[in-house]
Amino acid sequence: MAVRLPIFATATRGTEPFLAQELETFGCKRIRQDRGGVRFMAALDEILRVCLHSRIAMRVLYPLGEFESVGAEGLYEAALQVPWEDWLTTKTTFAVEATLKDSEHTHTGFVALKIKDAIVDRLRQKLGARPDVDSHDPTVRVVAHLAKTHLTLSLDLCGEPLFKRGYRIETTIAPLKETLAASLLMASGYTGEEPLADPMCGSGTLIIEGAWMAMRRAPGLKRHFALEDWPEFAAKAKPLLDDLRREAVSQQRTLPFQMLARDYDADALAAVKRNVVAAGLSTAVRIEEADVLHAEPPDMPKGLLITNPPYGERIGDGGQKGMKSFFHALGRSLQKWEGWRLSILAGNTAFESAFGLRPNKRTDLWNGPIECELLQYPAIYRRG
Ligand SMILES: C[S@@+](CC[C@H](N)C(=O)[O-])C[C@H]1O[C@@H](n2cnc3c(N)ncnc32)[C@H](O)[C@@H]1O
Repeated sequence: MAVRLPIFATATRGTEPFLAQELETFGCKRIRQDRGGVRFMAALDEILRVCLHSRIAMRVLYPLGEFESVGAEGLYEAALQVPWEDWLTTKTTFAVEATLKDSEHTHTGFVALKIKDAIVDRLRQKLGARPDVDSHDPTVRVVAHLAKTHLTLSLDLCGEPLFKRGYRIETTIAPLKETLAASLLMASGYTGEEPLADPMCGSGTLIIEGAWMAMRRAPGLKRHFALEDWPEFAAKAKPLLDDLRREAVSQQRTLPFQMLARDYDADALAAVKRNVVAAGLSTAVRIEEADVLHAEPPDMPKGLLITNPPYGERIGDGGQKGMKSFFHALGRSLQKWEGWRLSILAGNTAFESAFGLRPNKRTDLWNGPIECELLQYPAIYRRG
């Protein structure tokens, strides 16, 4: 029977349930949601499936040790106990990243430094020399998480975070993270079987993520994973990854419908155009310049309208009052989108009442530091 390893996949706050749902489909076992991620047990092929196919996970971590740690000395002593020589040679580069929660330490850099010192000292003792630190592009990224005095030391199996899909050539103000956009689509019950429209698309993240879901395109298909460079994993992982990549390509399909991306801003339209091309979606996405408050609904098969309107900082000079009238006008305009379900990420508490429609489902999520609600509205049908 394949050995199952304990893994922790990180996720942005509020998206943990969607990650847990995804992990079940990959065959992972003992899935437990935590704040900021999901724990599970998985065999190597399942771990690789997560790296390649997860739309929600940010990082996939393999914990090497958990310790109680007090003071700077505690960090050093804990890190000294981990058999780093199993993972690092004198030729591999490495970096340590630290995250803190309710800890006596306030500087992540200090915590990372103490752990780096211990790794270097242990390897000098075991291997007779030390590997170099490369904070930009290390072969092995060590992640230290200190919650109060509980220290977890893990290896990051993917390297660059998984939201880096490779299609974001150009960005705009306040783009959504790819992983959050995918979570919003999942939370909206999007299965890839209907068209999508985003009338305030910005750089196009929701439409691109949705199109990839509908095409069954594996989000990690074109990227490299850190574990491919580790002697311990690479020999076993590479053939499995090759098979999984081949399988992923064979499962892809051409989109049976078009997606619609609209915005009224020239910079946003330039960004979405470039990103859509980079994502291989130039014929799949229709891009239009339109002001959502005045434009007519598109002439196309109906599906899900999903969007994240501006939160408030950048809409004219009207402040909160200006936002309320914008949301009110938006509600009136979107009522014309007969037959479309609506899913709107609202980051402004004034949104719901000003918008004026009654949501039938709401999901709490965080967009970085901003607490948001994804409000869903059933399709509008008029009589007559
Ligand atoms: C928060 S951003 C959307 C970010 C986008 N989801 C992304 O991932 O890049 C809001 C977008 O709404 C657009 N917008 C604001 N008012 C609009 C209007 N009246 N008509 C069309 N687009 C509008 C802005 O130009 C901006 O691109």
